[in-house]
Amino acid sequence: MKKRLFIIGAAVLFATQLVFNAAGASLKVEHLECEYRVNPLGLDEAQPRLTWRLESDTRGARQTAWQVLVASTPELLAANTGDLWDSGKTAGDRSVNIEYAGKELVSQEQCFWKVCVWDENGQARWSQPASWTMGLLKADDWKADYISFADNSPVWKNTEKLFLPPARQYRKEFQAAKSVKRATIYSTALGIYELYLNGQRVGDARFAPGWTDYHQRAYYNTYDVTALVKRGGNALGAWVGDGWYAGYIGFGLLTGIGTEHVGRATYGRTPAVMAQLDIEYTDGTHELVPTDRSWKVTGDGPVREGDFLMGETYDARRELAGWSQPGFDDRQWAPAILASENGPVPATFYEYANAQHPTDGVEIKGHAVDLGFHRPAKLESFPGLPVLPIEEIKPVAITSPTNGVYIFNLGQNFAGVVRLKVKGAAGTTVQLRYGEMLYPDGRLMNENYRKARATDHYTLRGDKHGEEWMPRFTFHGFQYVEVTGYPGKPGKDAITGVVLHSATPLASKFECSDPMANRLFKNIVWTQRANFLDLPTDCPQRDERFGWMGDAQIYVHCATLNADVAAFYTKWLREVMESQRPSGTFPGYAPYPFQHGWDFGTAWCDAGVICPWTIWQAYGDTRIIERCWPYMVRFMDWRKSTSRNFLGIVQGNDWGDWLSFGKKTPLDYVDTVYFAYSAKLMADMADAIGKPAEAAEYGDWFNRIKAAFNKKYVRRDGKLTVDTETAYALALYMNLLPENQRAAAGKVLADKLRTGETAEKSGMTTGFLGTRPLLPVLTSVGENDLAAKHFQSRKFPSWGYEVEQGATTIWEHWDSYTKANGFGGMDGKQNAGMNSFAHYSFGAVGEWMIGDLAGIQAGSPGYETIVIHPHPPAPGSNPERPAINWVKAHYDSIHGRIESEWRRTADRFELETEIPANTTANVYLPTASVESVTEGGKPLSKVAGVTVVRQEHGSVVLSIVAGEYDFVCALPASSK
Ligand code: BGC
Repeated sequence: MKKRLFIIGAAVLFATQLVFNAAGASLKVEHLECEYRVNPLGLDEAQPRLTWRLESDTRGARQTAWQVLVASTPELLAANTGDLWDSGKTAGDRSVNIEYAGKELVSQEQCFWKVCVWDENGQARWSQPASWTMGLLKADDWKADYISFADNSPVWKNTEKLFLPPARQYRKEFQAAKSVKRATIYSTALGIYELYLNGQRVGDARFAPGWTDYHQRAYYNTYDVTALVKRGGNALGAWVGDGWYAGYIGFGLLTGIGTEHVGRATYGRTPAVMAQLDIEYTDGTHELVPTDRSWKVTGDGPVREGDFLMGETYDARRELAGWSQPGFDDRQWAPAILASENGPVPATFYEYANAQHPTDGVEIKGHAVDLGFHRPAKLESFPGLPVLPIEEIKPVAITSPTNGVYIFNLGQNFAGVVRLKVKGAAGTTVQLRYGEMLYPDGRLMNENYRKARATDHYTLRGDKHGEEWMPRFTFHGFQYVEVTGYPGKPGKDAITGVVLHSATPLASKFECSDPMANRLFKNIVWTQRANFLDLPTDCPQRDERFGWMGDAQIYVHCATLNADVAAFYTKWLREVMESQRPSGTFPGYAPYPFQHGWDFGTAWCDAGVICPWTIWQAYGDTRIIERCWPYMVRFMDWRKSTSRNFLGIVQGNDWGDWLSFGKKTPLDYVDTVYFAYSAKLMADMADAIGKPAEAAEYGDWFNRIKAAFNKKYVRRDGKLTVDTETAYALALYMNLLPENQRAAAGKVLADKLRTGETAEKSGMTTGFLGTRPLLPVLTSVGENDLAAKHFQSRKFPSWGYEVEQGATTIWEHWDSYTKANGFGGMDGKQNAGMNSFAHYSFGAVGEWMIGDLAGIQAGSPGYETIVIHPHPPAPGSNPERPAINWVKAHYDSIHGRIESEWRRTADRFELETEIPANTTANVYLPTASVESVTEGGKPLSKVAGVTVVRQEHGSVVLSIVAGEYDFVCALPASSK
């Protein structure tokens, strides 16, 4: 990777001084977050972390001191009394992840907080108030029991026929005798659930409480329902479906693994729900409404089937009007039972088992399991962001390939559901099937869903005003909806796409002079949105939807650039750590419901180290390192124990450089580079959390692996014995070559790409592992024009090729669809089943687009220092098309917005850039002439806040303080 140097010394202090004198600066404090969320409820962190962003129009604005007050009431906070915590005025510029250090917080505590910041002139400014509440911190705070319905269904063993039970509705009436001050629900399920109170939906999360290994651990959610509880009679209702707990998941059915070979009921047979409503009256007394045997349950409601992979079947004639309101007649409903009362449910669970030796074959074995209720060993507050309906999409066209069949084209591939609008006779059933693509004859193509039936049915109740429906227990990855059985000819308003994903706020924008790249950026973001649904999945459509670790580690950095994924990864990394295998390795995917092949694969297992490191880098989060540390240490011990003299070996699943072309990069090579990379990242992380001995030890491992690597794989002339683009890209990216051989190796890589290019082929042969570092590496070895040429290429394989074939998302294969060959790929031989149209790995190029082309990079964890280093390709460098000559991008870092907008003309380079208050940056301008540089039209000597740091490799390096800048410089004659 590129070396980044920071010289922020006396020169900057001097520059800042100019600013002090120039303006009476004042900071605004915005965007208060606690544990990466705005006013979160029900935390179980003993020391929640607080973050704020500073905004200012003044150049050089920075925080010189801060004070946090945390109070138990809004009134105390308003009176500036931090009865829970008063940090006192604390000198320093920290504004990210400050740990609460006040009185011990107890269950259900309400915490109101604000922060005062002092700017560079010593002026103080308070933020608006924010808040968080604590959840149920002790096991015995839970007075509720998990409840279920009496379930006599057999353990399903039929692989030919699906078993799709109805979702259940639970209800309970209660009295609130006095006036209500505060009402809070704590709730969870084994399965997925939605709560209702007096007919109103509680919260808007879908698929709560998310996917965990439910035997070990489950999440609970906290909802403030003060506004929904009324004095007198009330009713609570819950919808509960199979979800990940009991429904079909992954490729279990396809591959014959999991419970009884069918791939459903992985964690248990019968879903269960647990909730407790805590009502605090104005007189200070509390009343609890917990789930218990007094609740009623029915399976006779409208949701006849509700399964993630298979879809939902809804019979509106069976709707139970008013079921979650008081006064509903539930005499036909059965009493709920305690989940444990369903008793043991013996079954056989089939999955692969590791062989004795790395080279032996693995085979499926069965072992006895009990699918009866097991209370999760731990209940934790949900640390992520809920899955929400984020956006609606209207169809762009309706076609009718055969009589009575209508295909709605939503114009964009995405994950979610549809809202169906229909009017017709009671009992009419409308069928909805989904596809990402169409066959040339206009029919829906869904071979690539494999065993995911992905079919919804809606049976009308016959409302003469029309009816609307949206499924709750399923989602699909699609662009097209095939509608059959619709009464009459549907208009465009019959189908609306509803985009669902974890509510990670989008964080960036990218535009440039090549329209292909602008579409590509959209495709990357759409693919992230389609796959960041509770966990980072490989794809949203077919029967996988797993948290594949290789894909995750390849893409995690790009993910942090596109959206604020701090809370999202905080959640998923718990699943990753928990899924650690008995050997100490991390598995192929997390959560890890069943073993397929070996229980790990090289470069996939390393996600257990790479992802925490990346989250730390993006958000300055050292707690994630501390939490993952013991697991990562065990993993490294395993890595070392399986290595031979610090060299990796051929072991585990041979995914390697997945989906590469031509000569394979051997697994022992991949294993060695990832062993080295993980060791290096461990050394960095040990440093960051104050473990110097461990930092030295992992640093030593890295050096030894590097030495062993050089001995085995590097020839004297700097060439590698493994002659693939991926081998070079990985070795350069992971800094495994001696400094003086980088340039030579970079040249070999560049030559391979150049000589590999033909009239039709781009010359790229890299797969998932090699493509991610390819362009960043080329740019770092002085081959930016070549990187940009490949980036803009439309030849196969390339990003542009895919965009030209009509992609609206990133595809699993570059040629998942070709105008010439349809779904058969370039050679007509592609397996249409293994062909996802929303697979994010190749989209990791977004990292180069923002980081190198726009030039926005972190200089230190959390973007406290920033690097603005745009890499404009030289005009005429690309014989195929005009080189990109302007870029406009921004990234909302945890410290605030960073902007880079550049434009290149024949003889000058212009850069408008902005970095947030309280940060500094080094800016690289592509000029050899420091005298030519102006900012705001003035020579640098007359500009406050800018210092020349050095000149290197044809660039002038400047140091800047916070603020907006408008640089212009002359371009060297050679690059004109
Ligand atoms: C997934 C990949 C994953 C791979 C393992 C596939 O089925 O979709 O993205 O990494 O398996 O090689």
